Amino acid sequence: MFADRVLSGMRPTGSLHLGHYHGVLKNWVQMQHEYECLFFVADWHALTTHYDTPEVIEQSVWDMVVDWLAAGVDPAHATLFIQSQVPEHAELHLLLSMITPLGWLERVPTYKDQQEKLSEKDLSTYGFLGYPLLQSADILIYRATQVPVGEDQVPHIEFTREIARRFNHIYGRESGFVEKAEAAVKRLGSRKARLYNELRTRFQEQGDLMALESAKSLLDEQQSLSHGDRERLFGYLEGGGKMILSEPRAMLTAASRMPGLDGQKMSKSYENTITLREDEASVAKKIRTMPTDPARIRRTDAGNPEKCPVWQLHQVYSTDATRQWVIKGCKSAGIGCIECKQPVIEAVLAEQRPMRERAQLYLDDPVMVKNIIADGCEKARKLASETMREVREAMGLSYM
Ligand code: TRP
Ligand code: SF4
Repeated sequence: MFADRVLSGMRPTGSLHLGHYHGVLKNWVQMQHEYECLFFVADWHALTTHYDTPEVIEQSVWDMVVDWLAAGVDPAHATLFIQSQVPEHAELHLLLSMITPLGWLERVPTYKDQQEKLSEKDLSTYGFLGYPLLQSADILIYRATQVPVGEDQVPHIEFTREIARRFNHIYGRESGFVEKAEAAVKRLGSRKARLYNELRTRFQEQGDLMALESAKSLLDEQQSLSHGDRERLFGYLEGGGKMILSEPRAMLTAASRMPGLDGQKMSKSYENTITLREDEASVAKKIRTMPTDPARIRRTDAGNPEKCPVWQLHQVYSTDATRQWVIKGCKSAGIGCIECKQPVIEAVLAEQRPMRERAQLYLDDPVMVKNIIADGCEKARKLASETMREVREAMGLSYM
């Protein structure tokens, strides 16, 4: 199976547009063949900012899942689920809240930024302050190794790593840890046990980072280790206790900046979007009425593509040959703007066609969508329960 587990979530706060497709979904579709992937609808996260419009969230949840499927996210390859259907996330959030210093939350940059940006909303709530911690629970509960996120979310992953470390530091000291770790070393077999001990000594006595890395890859290669032993051996290596929660890494996706209809980044708040499955006539009309180089008032005025938002779409959608045609035609007034927009219209429609077709299958049979999500929730819950069992035990909460 896969050594890495990828987890990502999206907030259901409105329809997805081509910016989501180029910036996120294309990437998910690619990753589902390379990693074990879990993708979920972060409906609780949506409530932290949209608590007064729950109906928007409810509608967006299903639209969003259809958008994912339309974009090519394949339930045979990725687990799709809804956060609120896996209540273990809330339990972990609560338990982690016991050890989360308020100052850590207040210092997460998105906290103040979003409060200022969404100043029409009262975001001085407990839930909003806890947003990054809920996200940490989402990630840690699946022991995700990688989390694909945009630049703005990197501090949340950093925060998650710090929470995991703090948790392991406080609760990772199971009684008899050293004895259990040594027994786990023996179970590696004598040759590998000797190698592990050698590398561990080199790291602990001389700070040899190469030795640490070698020991880690040695452990990564051991298929037959139990989860408990694996975590003990990792913990023992670095001199700490057992690692109950593992630290994820942020996976920065090449920031493909999708231009909107006005040349700014495509974003709902700029009202410059084309939605993922927008109907053809509306797509054509939106592009046909896009602003162009303001210097081209009359058809006979020459223009400059560098000053035109349509040109940015050619960069995303057109071949080299078409782009040459645009540059030449625009600068010499050889082509008109409507003519110039035509290949963009066609390319966007061609990109959307398979998405619209796939979506139709699901729109015709909404039960299929519910079943995909029900399956995904069940799988996710199973994984989440395993982590929760260990977390409860570590925190002294396993009474039965
Ligand atoms: N905060 C993320 C965003 O706004 C959404 C999210 C919630 C998420 N939980 C997550 C992303 C866990 C990755 C992993 O985009
Ligand atoms: Fe923009 Fe094309 Fe018109 Fe030039 S010809 S101004 S690139 S739309």
